[in-house]
Amino acid sequence: MKLEIRNLTAGYDQDVILKDFSLSVEEGEFLSLLGPSGCGKSTLLKTIAGIIPARGGSIFLDGQDIAGMPIHKRGTTVLFQDIRLFPHKSVAENVAFPLKMQGVPKEERIKTAEALLEKVQLAGFGSRRPMELSGGQQQRVALARALAAKPKLLLLDEPFSALDENLREDMRSLVLQLKQEFRMTVILVTHDREEALSMSDRIALMFEGALIQTGTPKEVYTRPATRQAADYFGNCVYIRGRAEGGRFTACGIDCAAEAADGEYDIMLRPDCLHTDKEDSYSVTVESVLFRGSDTQVTFRAEDGTLWKKTFVQPVHWNEGDVLQTDLVVKEMILFKAD
Ligand SMILES: Nc1ncnc2c1ncn2[C@@H]1O[C@H](COP(=O)(O)OP(=O)(O)OP(=O)(O)O)[C@@H](O)[C@H]1O
Ligand SMILES: [Mg+2]
Repeated sequence: MKLEIRNLTAGYDQDVILKDFSLSVEEGEFLSLLGPSGCGKSTLLKTIAGIIPARGGSIFLDGQDIAGMPIHKRGTTVLFQDIRLFPHKSVAENVAFPLKMQGVPKEERIKTAEALLEKVQLAGFGSRRPMELSGGQQQRVALARALAAKPKLLLLDEPFSALDENLREDMRSLVLQLKQEFRMTVILVTHDREEALSMSDRIALMFEGALIQTGTPKEVYTRPATRQAADYFGNCVYIRGRAEGGRFTACGIDCAAEAADGEYDIMLRPDCLHTDKEDSYSVTVESVLFRGSDTQVTFRAEDGTLWKKTFVQPVHWNEGDVLQTDLVVKEMILFKAD
């Protein structure tokens, strides 16, 4: 189902959280929604699902405006971090609950619930109470329940954040697999940048109720639209320099640049610093931090720029060593100096 949000406004009481918000998600697309705490991600999902009313604008699902529709008619399901299973119902009854609401006969409900429990690798757990399951198992019951309603659009609001790393990994693959199988469009809210970069077809980055950038994980990471967007993914190194007559020059850099004359900060990431190639960019080893599976080395360039690079192979440098390295600019990302 294609989702198209146009000029959406939503909020609480006097507070307007989303202003004139527009976003489209293609059929079958997996979009991750990222942004700092409080920027309006959950508000957006709740407005799409109908838990919060839209104050203006439209939400089209396959061409039909659902903005004024009641929750259960929208064909969307939200899975929240706090999973809210019914404690007194069995696992199977929990999964079958959306079907009961739809008036599906009991026998069919049980069959569907059992099939869904098998999908989330919980076959045979149907008669237990939620309390008798681990946190990860409860999360999978909640996922099965979300799928029972056969959502066209699945909205996931940080559903994996309380799980340990191994379980998160399992849940991620399960969601991706079920998304294919059920041909769903998925929006995932997450604070985990790596999760977003690795799982998504596209990323939407939000700040203070507004969309800053949408693009493939690679685009958003390598060509951030603003400094805020660049910093959100971290690992940025900025070097102050000058653009003049179509060239940008700074310590260790002299490149063609399509920018008006003036002062800029060029944004680079640690992979631009090639310590294995001897060239004219001189750096001093500032610290070497052994972390078990890798080592983080901080280098200081002559202009004071600090580079933090991670090496999986053992390194043989000591603090104070001076190295001649190569600085390679792959993308000219320039931000006007403040
Ligand atoms: N029920 C509510 N009543 C009033 N204000 C609310 C309510 N829920 C959220 N807000 C406010 O709306 C803004 C956006 O909240 P929202 O929950 O959408 O943020 P978020 O991006 O999901 O943040 P987080 O990453 O922390 O979950 C915040 O300023 C928050 O304080
Ligand atoms: Mg939230």
